[in-house]
Amino acid sequence: MIPEREGFEPPEPCGSTVFKTASFDHSDTSPRRRTCRSMAPVRLFRLYSQPSKLSINVQIRRRGMIEVHVYPQINCPEQIRDQILCLLKTEWPHTFTVHRPDWPTESAAVHPTSFVLLVEGIVISHAAVLSKTIRHAAQRWAVSGLSSVVTAPSYRRCGFASQIVGCATRYMRRQRVDFGIFTCDPELVDLYRRHGWTYSKTSPLVGGTRQQPFDSVALGKNTLIQLFSERAKSERSTILGIPIFVDLGPGKLW
Ligand SMILES: CC(C)(COP(=O)(O)OP(=O)(O)OC[C@H]1O[C@@H](n2cnc3c(N)ncnc32)[C@H](O)[C@@H]1OP(=O)(O)O)[C@@H](O)C(=O)NCCC(=O)NCCS
Repeated sequence: MIPEREGFEPPEPCGSTVFKTASFDHSDTSPRRRTCRSMAPVRLFRLYSQPSKLSINVQIRRRGMIEVHVYPQINCPEQIRDQILCLLKTEWPHTFTVHRPDWPTESAAVHPTSFVLLVEGIVISHAAVLSKTIRHAAQRWAVSGLSSVVTAPSYRRCGFASQIVGCATRYMRRQRVDFGIFTCDPELVDLYRRHGWTYSKTSPLVGGTRQQPFDSVALGKNTLIQLFSERAKSERSTILGIPIFVDLGPGKLW
């Protein structure tokens, strides 16, 4: 049982600036590498029609140049922060209304934690995990969501977002998170489904405030949910039967 408190702070200690750094050897486990060995003709055609992507994918993975770093955004080194902001601003310029962008990207109350996939020190893929305690169906739940998932345009469809989403999902599972919830565009559901996320039509995420709810369905978004804790699993039908409100502030959805 999570103690009653206003915010949900991930319990994993974050003593140093980089509290977890992983360098992955993909030689045995990379699904993409396996894909390269036994590519279906359709996939081969797609990759060869984009030769730069094939060479990026094969070279990067063969040389083991990939690292995934995890930073609570408040402790993120400047050079990583600037690269993340550059990626976000390139993809969603309309969300940057001021010359100096917000950092952390979300309110500190949701403990934004960035997962970055680096190739030789360059950030090419990013996802943020946000966490909060909510009241839903007369119970309190520690929930997390994914936000700001983005891969640099030249590196897309090489499996990098999938890798970062996998890391972020495993992180949530290790934390005291009851369940994860966030939204995405309908065509991207498959990206998340392969990491255990399920499209939940009956319990869409509602952000905003109690006075001014911000409905994800009205925005054409699909809600993805994953139950982590035993309590959440045993209360599955209660959790999934109704819309899930996460108080994120006016006009906000994660
Ligand atoms: C969506 C995005 C993050 C995907 O990054 P990526 O590194 O290219 O993703 P991956 O290569 O790991 O894709 C894994 C799977 O996700 C799905 N997928 C990825 N991009 C997709 C797209 N544009 N349309 C449909 N499905 C897609 C596919 O099933 C893909 O597997 P496949 O390549 O074997 O078909 C990237 O296109 C991006 O930054 N888009 C702009 C920002 C955005 O929309 N972010 C998502 C917010 S929810």
